[in-house]
Amino acid sequence: MAEALQQLILDTLHASGTIGDTRTLIIPGQSKPAASSDAQIIIRGALDSLDSREMITYTTHETLSHVLTPEGAQIALEGSHEARVWAALPVKGEGSPVLPEELKKKVGDSAKAGQGNAFKNGWITKEGKGLVKLVASIVDSTQQDMREVDATGSLAAGEKALAELRKRKLIVQRKGQWFTVEKGPNFSTSIAKPETDLTVDMLTSGSWKTATFKKYNFEAEGIPTNGGAFHPLLKVREEIRNIFLEMGFTEMPTASFVESGFWCFDALFVPQQHPARDLQDTFYLSDPSSSLPPPADYYARVSQVHEHGGYGSAGYRAPWSHAESSKLLLRTHTTASSAAMLYKLAAKCRGERTPAESNGGSGELAHEHGDVRAQVSAGILDAQDKSSQSQAKPKVDDDGFRPAKLFSIDRVFRNETTDATHLAEFHQVEGVVADRGLTLADLIGFMRLFFKKLGLENLRFKPAYNPYTEPSLEIFAFHPHLRKWVEIGNSGMFRPEMLEPMGFPKDVRVHGWGLSLERPTMIRYGINNIRTLLGHKVSIESVEKSPAVMF
Ligand code: PHE
Repeated sequence: MAEALQQLILDTLHASGTIGDTRTLIIPGQSKPAASSDAQIIIRGALDSLDSREMITYTTHETLSHVLTPEGAQIALEGSHEARVWAALPVKGEGSPVLPEELKKKVGDSAKAGQGNAFKNGWITKEGKGLVKLVASIVDSTQQDMREVDATGSLAAGEKALAELRKRKLIVQRKGQWFTVEKGPNFSTSIAKPETDLTVDMLTSGSWKTATFKKYNFEAEGIPTNGGAFHPLLKVREEIRNIFLEMGFTEMPTASFVESGFWCFDALFVPQQHPARDLQDTFYLSDPSSSLPPPADYYARVSQVHEHGGYGSAGYRAPWSHAESSKLLLRTHTTASSAAMLYKLAAKCRGERTPAESNGGSGELAHEHGDVRAQVSAGILDAQDKSSQSQAKPKVDDDGFRPAKLFSIDRVFRNETTDATHLAEFHQVEGVVADRGLTLADLIGFMRLFFKKLGLENLRFKPAYNPYTEPSLEIFAFHPHLRKWVEIGNSGMFRPEMLEPMGFPKDVRVHGWGLSLERPTMIRYGINNIRTLLGHKVSIESVEKSPAVMF
C-alpha cells in the first residue's frame, strides 16, 4: 500500500507538475478522495519517505475541520430525531393518530428528542391524544448537514451553522493537515530503493557509478549504547561491605587464593587427619606443590601444640607431618587469611618491632598483605562506640596488644560435586573481632546487630563443632518465604590452641563468624538454582536488569 501511494504521488506529479491539495488524492484501494485527517496522516508518511530521497518537496497546511460525533453519525445514516418522529406518523386525516407510548415504541429515544423540533418546524400536530403529520413531505436539513460535514469536514453555510451543530454535540472540531507537493531534485517516477552500503560487488562491477545512495541522516538518534552492569553478587557484596564499614570493621587483604596447609588448617588447629583436608574436599596444587616455610618459631609452636599439646591443651597426640603442612592448596575458607592477619596483629605481643620488619605471614602472603599495622589500626575497636572509630588512633596495650575488627568477602574453593545449591567455588563473608575479655554474649550480640542490618532479625543459634573454635555456633534465620529456619552462617570463639601460639596474651579473645555471599543473594533475588547466578548459564539480561539491593 505504501509503495502504491508513493507511486500515485509520483505519477500525479509527473502528469500535472504539482499537487495543489493532497485532499484531492484518492489513496489506492479507497473510493473517495482523502479528505479526512486520518487519510492525510497516511499521505504524510508517503511524502516523508519521498522527501528523504529528495524526489519531492512539500508544504504543510493546517486546517480546522469537523468530524461527526457518534450521534451525528447516526443522524447521517438514519435521519434526525424530528424526521424520524415525522416519518412514524400518518398524514392528518389518513389514519389513526399515534399515541405518545406508541411513538416511543416506534422510534425509541428520538420520540422525546425529536418532538419539539418537529412541532417547531410545523411538521406535525396534535389530534386528540395522538400525533399526526401536518405536511406530506419534509426536508431533513440536519441529516443533510451531517452528510456534508462527513464528506467535506465543513459546511458551506459557514461558521454559525457549524457552531450550532457543535452546541448540539453532533460534530466536533479537529485539527488537520494537508499538503501541497512539488517535484524534488531527484524526481523520477520509479521508486528505486536507494543503496545503503557500498559493496565489493558494486566496486568490481562499477555499478556504484550509477547507483543512488541513501543520504546520511545526521538527525537520526542512533542505537542506545549499553552501559556496564554489576553482577547481583557484586551488589550484595557492596551492601555487606558497607554494613561492616559502618560497624567500624576494616577489610582484610584476601588476594591469596593459594594458601598452604599450614595457614589454611594447621594454624587453625585443624588436625592433620581431618576429613576436610582430603583430596575429595580440597583442591591441591601440583606445580608448585609445596609452600615456602612459615616463620620458624611459630611453626614450631603450632606443630608442638598439635602433636604434644600446650597452653592447657592435650593436643591431638598424633604424629606431625611437615609434608601435609607445606602442601599448597586453593583456600577452603577465608579464615586462612584471618589467621594470617591475626598472626600479624599479635606481632607486637611477640615482641617484634613492626610486622614489615618481621618475617611474618606465609611467604608471599607477607608481601601481599603489605603494611598490616595500617590495615589493622583503621579497624581499631572502641567497643560499642562506632562514631569514634574512624578517627581513633591505635590503642596499644602495654603488652603490645591492640583490639581489632576485621572482615573479608572473597572467593573460596571446595572440591564438591556441584548441584543446584553448591558450586566448587563460592564467596565467604567473614567477620573477626579481637579484644580482651570478649565473651560468647559479645559474639551473639555482634551477630544480632550484623544480621539485623541484613534484614534478618529472627535468629537462632545452635551449638556446633569447628576444630578452631570453642564454643561454636551455627546461625539460623527464619526464611519468610520458605517459612522455615535456614542455616545462614557459622561462628565461634577461636581456641587458645590457635591464638596462644600466635603470641596473643591469655585474656585476649577472638571471635568470628562466616557466611556465604551466595545464600543471601539468592534469597534477595528469589533465585533457587545457583547456576542461574554463576557460570555460563547466567543471562546477561537478568544481570543488567537486577535491581540494586538495600538490606
Ligand atoms: N570458616 C568458617 C566456615 O567455613 C566460618 C567461621 C569463621 C567460623 C570464623 C568461625 C569463625 O564456615
